[in-house]
This record gives sequence, C-alpha cells and structure tokens, in this order.
Amino acid sequence: MTLQDKDRIFTNLYGFQDWGLKAAQKRGDWDATKALIARGQDSIIDEVKASGLRGRGGAGFPTGLKWSFMPKESKDGRPSFLVINADESEPGSCKDREILRHDPHKLIEGALVAGFAMRARAAYIYIRGEFIREAENLFAAVQQAYDAGLLGKNAAGSGYDFDVFVHRGAGAYICGEETAMIESLEGKKGQPRLKPPFPAGAGLYGCPTTVNNVESIAVVPTILRRGASWFSSFGRENNKGTKLFQISGHVDKPCVVEETMGISFRELIEKHCGGIRGGWDNLLAVIPGGSSVPLVPAEQIIDAPMDFDGLKELGSGLGTAGVIVMDKSTDIVRAISRLSYFYKHESCGQCTPCREGTGWMWRMMERLRTGAAEPREIDMLYEVTKQVEGHTICALGDAAAWPIQGLIKHFRPELERRIAEHAGAMQEAAE
Ligand code: NAI
Ligand code: SF4
Repeated sequence: MTLQDKDRIFTNLYGFQDWGLKAAQKRGDWDATKALIARGQDSIIDEVKASGLRGRGGAGFPTGLKWSFMPKESKDGRPSFLVINADESEPGSCKDREILRHDPHKLIEGALVAGFAMRARAAYIYIRGEFIREAENLFAAVQQAYDAGLLGKNAAGSGYDFDVFVHRGAGAYICGEETAMIESLEGKKGQPRLKPPFPAGAGLYGCPTTVNNVESIAVVPTILRRGASWFSSFGRENNKGTKLFQISGHVDKPCVVEETMGISFRELIEKHCGGIRGGWDNLLAVIPGGSSVPLVPAEQIIDAPMDFDGLKELGSGLGTAGVIVMDKSTDIVRAISRLSYFYKHESCGQCTPCREGTGWMWRMMERLRTGAAEPREIDMLYEVTKQVEGHTICALGDAAAWPIQGLIKHFRPELERRIAEHAGAMQEAAE
C-alpha cells in the first residue's frame, strides 16, 4: 500500500512546526493518554504484538514480545525499568535524532505508555553525547511534561507514577549496545555483558529492564490510537508498518522519510530522493541498513523490497534502514576499509577475537586497498572475518566482519585487479 501523508506517524519530522508541548498536542500527541493507559497492561502489550511492530534499532526483535518478558509481579520489591536507546551512532543512521529534535513528545508519551505496559517505575533515555540540540529539546520537553502533570505522580491523571530521566552519553559507539548502555547508566565503563541473562531478567541495577530504540517507543501511542490493524495494514507478513528510512550518499536529495515497510529500493529513491546521481546506470552498490550489514550490488537491490526479510534474502539486512547509496565514483575498497577502521576504533577491547580481529581486518583491508597484498590474502581475510563472527560477546564483532564479507563476495574481481595492478607496477619499477 502506498503511504499517504495522512498515514505518517511523524508529522513534524522536518521541524516545520514547533516541537513544544502545545504544538505537539495540536498534532494529536498526549491526546487522552489516560484512556490509553486505562486499557490495562496486558491489553496494550497484546495490541503492540498484534501490530507486528519489530524493534527499529536494527535487530528487529518483536517489540510486544520483548515487553512480555518483563515480570508481572515485582520480586523482592525490585522495580522494573525501561531504558530508551537514543545513542544513535550507527554510520548511516540519523532518524532518532530527528525525532528527538522535532518530535520529542512522541517519545515521552510513548515512554509513559510503554513503561506502564511493562510495569516499569521509570524510563531512562540514554542520549548520544554529541546530540547537543537534541538533548536540549529533550530535557525541555521532559520538563514541559512534568509541569503539565503528564509525568511524575499520577502521570497524565492515570493513577500511575512514572518518571523519565535523561542521561547524556560521552561519545562511545559501544554504549549503544544494550548491556553496555546499562553499565554506563550505572556509572561504569560501557562494556557489554554476556547474554543471557537478558536485561528483562537482570538489567539496570540488576532489575528487570527492557531496552528499546527511540523510534520503537515513539510509534506506540499512534499504534494504540489508530489500532494494530491500521499499522499492520502496511508492509507484508512479518514486516509490518511504517518505518523511517534514512537515505544518504549519492542520491540527488538525501533525506529521512517515513515510508511503508517493503517499499522497493527503486520507488524509495525515485519518490523521495530525486534519483541516483548520474542515473540508475551509475549505481554501484548500497549498504541498506546502517554500516553493520553487508553491501548489496546495484543489480540485486534495485527492485528489492526494503524490509527485514527482503534484504535478508539478499544476504544483507534492514538494520536501522540507514540506506547508504554508492555510485560508480566510489572507491568501494576504501569505503569498506574506512568502516573497518571505525569498528577497530570503537571496539571496547573486552574480548580477544574483536579486539585483535578488528585490528587485523583493518590492516588487511588497507593492504588490499593499496593493492600491496598477495592474492591469497583475500581468502585469509575472509577466514579472519569468520574467526571473529559469532565468537564475541556482543554484535560489534559481527558488525565489523559482515561489511568485509560482503565486499569479498561481490567485489572480489576488484580486489584481484588492485593486487595485479600493484604487482605490475612494482615489477615495472624493478626493471
Ligand atoms: P540482538 O538480536 O542480540 O537483540 C535484540 C533485542 O532482543 C535485545 O533487546 C535483546 O535483549 C532481545 N532478545 C533477544 N533474544 C532474547 C531472548 N531470548 N530473551 C529475551 N530478550 C531477547 O541484537 P542487539 O545486539 O540488541 O542489536 C544489534 C543490532 O543493532 C544490529 O543488527 C545493528 O543493526 C543495530 N545497531 C544499531 C545502532 C544504532 O545506532 N541504532 C548502532 C549499532 C548497531
Ligand atoms: Fe567489546 Fe568487541 Fe567484545 Fe563487543 S565484541 S564486547 S565491542 S571487544
């Protein structure tokens, strides 16, 4: 189904209107929130499950199911918590910052409703340290909500007490990993914990905790108001709803746009981005889900559905839907090598395959970039990525391995060409 303006959840994505409380209320936020809460915890969770909403932070875990892992009764008087991941740092991802800056009340109302549904005492919004403007607006919006009685004791007149705390990060990518975020909130070094136990069992301060992405929480009040069947009327089985796509790179008009899940890549680009720079024949490859998923070559992605299953079939993923478009002017080996450097730099160093492997992968990528490698190093590099993938505490190791695997799978001839060219140049110089 084609998305019309009236179907969009985020009606102030570009900041054309005021982000403050009064303007947000005019747009429909905080409308009868008390009545939403009065539906009861299980009913809210069931509605979110029925909507088919899957986590918008990258992993796509079913949101309602995640909430249902939270305990219904407090054990030993321990409170439960909601942690909202606003540490958006994935290269290519830039959607949550638009919500935080231009539509913060959608997130705050969502925090209350979701927090109530999972029986949480409070929500902690962990916001990326570099998000200065976004944090300013978020702090102010939270204060507006307290002043209006929408948060705190008897939040929104619901009879439920609920607090929202905003915590600023300090610039580490790894703090976007949910257990590293919890460690950081507790005042410790942001290093991931082994899972299980999952946060729902033992999270913040050892209490039951659910960590959700900003977009996942911000869409909840609208889903409840319009109904699960409305949300699930967009997209296809297992890939429901609308989603914020962030298109960057070699398109005529890079943008963040809400679209229906499963829109084809071609339609997404033609409808919102003015086409590929230099035309469709000039497209080289796309990283469709933020930097942690493998690239897809042009011929495979053009008519692909942009959703979890459609991109998985291509050996990639929807991730955060941070769509990085690369035309034929791109030095694809250099681009992936630069990503390798990013992961090497951001590895927390806690586990050996990631700490050592990300360094190895980057150094080998640099040898391939300059061509100063031997042909057998392509397979050696692939073998190193396999030694890292699946052997680390958190997903950063996988995220570092996958872009390289995608490069080798789809652009091996380019790697071989560089090596041959370099070897030829060396031989010429020696003669
Ligand atoms: P994951 O698949 O390990 O977990 C997803 C969520 O489901 C987590 O909240 C986890 O606690 C929960 N979960 C999974 N299995 C469970 C079980 N059996 N019981 C209870 N809860 C369970 O993925 P992860 O590590 O949370 O996220 C990885 C993704 O994050 C990557 O795919 C990447 O796309 C994305 N990412 C996004 C960034 C951003 O800036 N938005 C930054 C870096 C990565
Ligand atoms: Fe740290 Fe990397 Fe291990 Fe994750 S995979 S815990 S980032 S060393």
